[in-house]
Amino acid sequence: MVKAAVFLASLFTLVFAKPHGARDLRVHERRDTHPEGFTNRGPAQADTVLRLRLALVQNDISGLQDALMDVSTPSSAHYGEHLSKEEVFQYVTAKSETVATVNSWLAENGLTATTLSPAGDWLGFQTTVEHANELFDADFSTFTHDVTGEATVRTLSYSIPAALQGHLELVHPTITFPNPRSGLPLATTPAKRVYGNHSIDATAPSSCNTAITPTCVQELYGIPTTLATQSTNTLAVSGFIDQYANSADLKSFLKSYRPDLSSTDTFILQTLDGGSNSQTLKNAGVEADLDVQYTIGIASGVPTYFISVGDQFQDGDLEGFLDIVNYLLAEDNPPQVLTTSYGQNENTISRALANTLCNAYAQLGARGTSILFASGDGGVSGSQSASCSSFVPTFPSGCPYMTSVGATQNVNPEVAASFSSGGFSNYFGTPSYQTAAKAAFISQLGRTNSGKFNTSGRGFPDVAALGTDLKIVNAGKTTSVDGTSCASPIFASVVALLNDQLIGAGKSPLGFLNPFLYSTGASALNDITSGDNPGCNTNGFSAVKGWDPVTGLGTPNFAALLTAVGL
Ligand SMILES: *[C@@H]1O[C@H](CO)[C@@H](O)[C@H](O)[C@H]1NC(C)=O
Ligand SMILES: *[C@@H]1O[C@H](CO)[C@@H](O)[C@H](O)[C@H]1NC(C)=O
Repeated sequence: MVKAAVFLASLFTLVFAKPHGARDLRVHERRDTHPEGFTNRGPAQADTVLRLRLALVQNDISGLQDALMDVSTPSSAHYGEHLSKEEVFQYVTAKSETVATVNSWLAENGLTATTLSPAGDWLGFQTTVEHANELFDADFSTFTHDVTGEATVRTLSYSIPAALQGHLELVHPTITFPNPRSGLPLATTPAKRVYGNHSIDATAPSSCNTAITPTCVQELYGIPTTLATQSTNTLAVSGFIDQYANSADLKSFLKSYRPDLSSTDTFILQTLDGGSNSQTLKNAGVEADLDVQYTIGIASGVPTYFISVGDQFQDGDLEGFLDIVNYLLAEDNPPQVLTTSYGQNENTISRALANTLCNAYAQLGARGTSILFASGDGGVSGSQSASCSSFVPTFPSGCPYMTSVGATQNVNPEVAASFSSGGFSNYFGTPSYQTAAKAAFISQLGRTNSGKFNTSGRGFPDVAALGTDLKIVNAGKTTSVDGTSCASPIFASVVALLNDQLIGAGKSPLGFLNPFLYSTGASALNDITSGDNPGCNTNGFSAVKGWDPVTGLGTPNFAALLTAVGL
């Protein structure tokens, strides 16, 4: 009886109501106000076209996360048994019921979507502001950025029909705002913070305490200078925001600092989203040059890709951050290591979106890729130095399925760099591999900085490497650069060289690193115990014995790492 009544009522709705009428809309994501640095200019024009993306609820994301931990934890029976493309897709492709529900909702509303990801878990469609406001009970408005004046259309809240709950993870771009542009000493105006101060210090003496070259890095960490031997072992460098890697700069860099390497050593270019790699000298990017010079210059002989992501993003204002992961997930043999020196403050991105991106890293990790990101350059104040009252965690460093790399300075002794971002996520809880290391830090911290950070969040960075006064060649000139941007390529190169030996010995590459780093790997790192990362009118956190949110577990000791990985 009850069932029949419900059935009749819903049939009535279907037949007589307009598709968008009598809907049971539920608020799905909202924020109280727009982020600082934007001004609300009022409702967006009704006929403005929006390119919206839908993230579908994946078949079994917790199953994928379990599988990731299973293949990445040294004590597990399945350690190193990375998943195939198809195995990963089985976890993340939406259930057929989800696809059917979302498609019929799209059809009812006269919309057609295209698939944006290899597993079909992202769909995209275009519609007008007027229609989107009605569909999602949203209030799409125009916001201008106070510094750049750039206009962006966003809503502070949106709803989805109750029938789509459990099927739709999120709609994007809605409440996530573009990352405020910062005045960086770069030729381009980056939308996403490039981690690196890039101050020019041509007068630095040539000692390793004031100017770091590949030789300094190799000596400090005991990294071999001999050539890698495995051609299937690759390392990839992410490139965004029109940062071009210049081959002539790389050539002069190698000539000066790695004369033992072949002068023909270079990167292999991959492009997506209309990306390119101009070789005009004046277009040479500081970040891109740094990244290729400290991978090719350290990971001797490891085939290295430079992946240039263009401006035709499929992922909204994520500026290709999701696209590059989907691009690699579509490959049968993704690179074993991916290093990225870009990021943003966690609070600029919605929780649901941060979660979805983080799960994309879990997919790539399950395939056997080690994903490393620079942690950011603002100490406890976030991706860059800024005024703040509470500490500002960075993204994706808070994501538990990637490896966040902080920075150090000097070689004797090596100490924390004061700009090294570190702290605790407000979005992601403490992963099991980090529980003990984090608890030890928190207990010795006592009341220091109490109330300024979230004690239950995932701590970052995980590890560190040299990040101050690195010599690079940019646009034909030798300059010095600072930033966690320097540290991520260095650590990534160490991992690539370990993989070379593992693969040569018939073993699996390391894949997702953290469960190894926080267990058998911890004692193979140089623990950094001095220095801190001030910000928000505090001294920040201090580097101490054991893990800390400045330098993580420490910097690489190659010989010890070889033993720790069983070689
Ligand atoms: C960045 O450079 C400026 C001057 O160029 C300097 O004042 C500042 O301390 C530097 N920041 C870091 C994090 O090194
Ligand atoms: C603190 O972090 C947890 C994740 O561990 C999160 O659920 C919670 O909302 C965070 N609190 C705040 C105030 O952001």
